[in-house]
Amino acid sequence: MKSVFISLLLATSILLFGCQQDSKQVVVGFFGALTGPEATFGLSSRNGIMLAIEEINKSGGLLGKTVELKFYDTLGTNEEARNSIEKLISLDHVVAVLGEVASSRSLAGAPIAQKFQIPMITPSSTNPSVTQKGNYIFRVCFIDPFQGEVMAKFAYKSLNLRKAAILRDTQSEYSMGLADYFIKTFQGLGGTIVADEEYVAGDVVFESQLSKIKEKNPEFIFVPGYYAEAALVARQAREMGIKVPLMGGDGWDSGSLVEIAGYAINGSYFSNHYTLEDPRAEVQNFIKIYEARFGAKPDAQAASGYDAARILFEAIAKANSTSGPAIRDALAQTKNFKGVTGVISINENRDAIKSAVVLQVKGKEFKFVDSIDP
Ligand code: PHE
Repeated sequence: MKSVFISLLLATSILLFGCQQDSKQVVVGFFGALTGPEATFGLSSRNGIMLAIEEINKSGGLLGKTVELKFYDTLGTNEEARNSIEKLISLDHVVAVLGEVASSRSLAGAPIAQKFQIPMITPSSTNPSVTQKGNYIFRVCFIDPFQGEVMAKFAYKSLNLRKAAILRDTQSEYSMGLADYFIKTFQGLGGTIVADEEYVAGDVVFESQLSKIKEKNPEFIFVPGYYAEAALVARQAREMGIKVPLMGGDGWDSGSLVEIAGYAINGSYFSNHYTLEDPRAEVQNFIKIYEARFGAKPDAQAASGYDAARILFEAIAKANSTSGPAIRDALAQTKNFKGVTGVISINENRDAIKSAVVLQVKGKEFKFVDSIDP
């Protein structure tokens, strides 16, 4: 008797809950590193996404419903990236997934989104193979062949440097790809790679790689990795008397870069998705609202998360449906969306074609140096 009652209760609550979710809410998922060595990536992009959700809910929601966010912490591991996206799709029944930031994590999660025909939009994974995982996988950022070219041209043409050393993370699709694309352009221009050294995320001692690099006398060191390791590389390089500038890509963008590296990273350069100094009204308004809400200036992941969420909402509104295939088709049509990280159009590979900026670390700030169009 009791068990019949309980199963009845369960059945009604599932029915009620299911209906409620269907009729009143549009549930969107996010997966990202909220803890661990890539924590600022997930925390910032989730903030940007939350801001976009609060804004749309204030202005009446989406398809007459409230937008709700479900999210999981990937801990910065591929396994948790897969688990997170599985849970979002099978337990939370999200209509679309935003994330991950790191390319390796997006590559791990994408096949699951593709299998279930749930659109996935990565705000800032730049490795080209991410969107090649299938026609449900999108990104709102540029890709690494472009980013590598930007930094190679900047080093060769703007700074007149000819001899580069590379220090890359062999476990990261992002780092390996960006290093290769950089080398291709830099050599094509006439530059030389005097050393190509390796590490693995989580390493804290870089002395042996740096001493090999020092022997070769490079004019700069390209470190296409994430902020935690790049910061330690900078510190140890300075301690070893290496004075040449370091350069990197978007993976450097974090308030923690300077916190960990201190003055050692001063003067170094990296490419990025946006700059706080962009005078466009979209950018300046976003910075003001974000700072008031979260008490910090938005980094590139915050801005990309915000853009990704708003592009998703626009697509859902256009599709006038929350079905995966309908949202997918609408996303593929995205044209000239005025985002914080630039004007975004999705091309036939589901990538965004847009400009990159080069920033220089000056004290605790990242100062705008150059903007490069595709
Ligand atoms: N582009 C990096 C990757 O693909 C992730 C990243 C984006 C990191 C933006 C910081 C800022 O792995």
